[in-house]
Amino acid sequence: MENGAAKPVIVAIDGPSGTGKSSTSKAVAAQLGLSYLDTGAQYRAITWWMVSNGIDIEDPTAIAAVAAKPEIISGTDPANPTISVDGTDVAGPIRTQEVTSKVSAVSAVPEVRARITELQRTLATSAEYGIVVEGRDIGTTVLPDADLKIFLTASAEARAARRSGELKGADVNATREALIKRDAADSSRKTSPLAKADDAVEVDTTALTLPQVIECVVTLVEEKRAAK
Ligand code: DC
Repeated sequence: MENGAAKPVIVAIDGPSGTGKSSTSKAVAAQLGLSYLDTGAQYRAITWWMVSNGIDIEDPTAIAAVAAKPEIISGTDPANPTISVDGTDVAGPIRTQEVTSKVSAVSAVPEVRARITELQRTLATSAEYGIVVEGRDIGTTVLPDADLKIFLTASAEARAARRSGELKGADVNATREALIKRDAADSSRKTSPLAKADDAVEVDTTALTLPQVIECVVTLVEEKRAAK
């Protein structure tokens, strides 16, 4: 790893589900000696807390009233990213179907976004060598001054096929419908929706392998670092 005296580099990777954001972001961070933050995991963690505490997910006012309560801590080592809520490791529970189906509603609440955005900015600015932050609104809202912004896309078919593979044989059509529904909710919410920043580099991953996407992003980061 060549950290040397390089200035910290901040990389924002946004895009819809199933575009390879997490695998790409983690691998790029590991290869370049950077920290890594999965912001979707933070929204899933706060959703898990709401569900566990019996908060009505259909009631944005109820969600807003308790948004500041859970303590969410993210570990940013790309080799071992962790997430805990009030001291409990929730890496497993945040991936359940129940949390996945409720996360769009919880993450649309402005008080939730303000809270999580603050955590994200603190982590990003304190990363010694720099950080790769993946999400939906990182380049547009959370880190508008990021050194490099990437927007990953892929066809709905490719995204559903990848997600079904990850979910070990889940039905591709049902996965495709669920993905489209979640992306539509994430793209149409009022507060910082899923969107490509004007200055983001768009990478269509439909016909690319994961190693190809990683190589493409690593090259872009190295170019930015060299120019810093
Ligand atoms: O990346 P993921 O599928 O784990 O994200 C889960 C949800 O979290 C996603 O449907 C929308 C929300 N999210 C968000 O609103 N903003 C982000 N920066 C990241 C995720």
